Amino acid sequence: MPSRFEPIIIGFLCNWCSYTGADLAGVARLQYPPNLRPIRVMCTGMVHPDLVMEAFSQGADGVMIMGCHPGECHYLEGNTKAAVRAKVISVILQDIGVDPNRFELKWISSAEGSVFAQLITDFTMRIKKLGPHKVKSCEYRDRETIR
Ligand code: FES
Repeated sequence: MPSRFEPIIIGFLCNWCSYTGADLAGVARLQYPPNLRPIRVMCTGMVHPDLVMEAFSQGADGVMIMGCHPGECHYLEGNTKAAVRAKVISVILQDIGVDPNRFELKWISSAEGSVFAQLITDFTMRIKKLGPHKVKSCEYRDRETIR
C-alpha cells in the first residue's frame, strides 16, 4: 500500500541562483513534488544552523539549503561559509538523534531549472522513505547556541 505521507520540506534558496533556478523550473512547467516550502534568502551564508534546527523543531521533515555554485556567490564567500556550516549542521543533527540525511546543501544556478526539479524530486523521495520526522522539540534549544 503506497504511503500517504507527504513530507514538509523547508528550502532556504539563495535569491541570485537557486531561487531563480526554481523560478525557471516553474516557467518551464517542469514537474516536481509540491512538498518544498521555499524561503528566499539573499545568500546561503545567511543561513545560520539555528534556522535549520528551528525548522526541524517546528515540524519540518527535511531541510535543504540551495545556493550559488562555488566561486559564483554574489557575496564572494557566503556559500563557502554555508558549506562549512552544513558540516556542523550534520554533526548537530546526529547529536540530537535526527538522521542527517534529512538535511542537504546543494548548488543550483539560475540556468538549472531541470536540475532543481530533479533535486527536489530526489530529496522528497528520500524523505518519504525516511518517514515523518518525530519532533523532539527542543533538545536543541536547550543547548548552548553554536556560533
Ligand atoms: S549569493 Fe548565492 S550563495 Fe551567496
